[in-house]
Amino acid sequence: MKIIHKISQIREITKNLNVSVGLVPTMGALHSGHASLIEKSVKDNGFTIVSVFVNPVQFGINEDFDKYPRTLENDAQLCEKLGADVVFAPSVDEMYQDTRELTLVCPPYSAINKLCGKSRPGHFDGVATVVSKLFNITKCTRAYFGQKDAQQLFIIKKMVKDLNFDIEIVPCPIIRESDGLALSSRNSYLDENARKEALKLSRALNYSKELWQKGIRDKDILRDSALKILEGLDVDYVEIVDPETFEDWQETGKKALMLIAAKIPPTNTRLIDNMEL
Ligand code: PAF
Repeated sequence: MKIIHKISQIREITKNLNVSVGLVPTMGALHSGHASLIEKSVKDNGFTIVSVFVNPVQFGINEDFDKYPRTLENDAQLCEKLGADVVFAPSVDEMYQDTRELTLVCPPYSAINKLCGKSRPGHFDGVATVVSKLFNITKCTRAYFGQKDAQQLFIIKKMVKDLNFDIEIVPCPIIRESDGLALSSRNSYLDENARKEALKLSRALNYSKELWQKGIRDKDILRDSALKILEGLDVDYVEIVDPETFEDWQETGKKALMLIAAKIPPTNTRLIDNMEL
């Protein structure tokens, strides 16, 4: 398996491939959630590229770009073990000549004025821009994204449709620890106590799902009971949306997706999680 840092080298390799190319876009610090995406791509495609790039354009000024874990050597070992063909790990300079004078891909306001888009202004412009660049660089046939980042997945699917990228987006289920914690590279920021507190996210989602299964459809009851479990965390949002449209869920809607974002004290780590009710 090769580790490649240059766009020109990736282009050279993919130019002559006559098999389907799977892309797994990541920011590294790979865990079993990423592993499930890589395994699926290896199974589905003749050639798999895992990109490892901590994308500065999707981080706000007070966010964790500098401290985001960078573990390329371990990541590459895992990718090789899982059967990936190439790790594409460009530098920031290789990807962006000048981030201040950059042509951005901007998702519509209606898709970003809520949930993570509301509390992280510019985040999804950065995600849509880097993902478009990775699509153009790798010329992939399929791209694999985790359902934990549900709003990101929704926005990327819409971007692919709106901009006619000839790429199949493959959503992959959330992978959880045995106690329910959704896997995330940011879990590495949590100490023992914070990790216990972080379990409140999946507990709140599971409890709302139980209520839903008992027939409760009142949005306030569902949200309030989740908020009660989340007490002690710095909650950014608890929302229920229609998973197809990401519009606010209406009580007549059949399917509902509950999403939570919260900072875990005292580490200030912002985690997200979601579950279909
Ligand atoms: O989900 C992520 O890790 C990132 O947002 C992505 C899709 C790799 C873009 O930088």
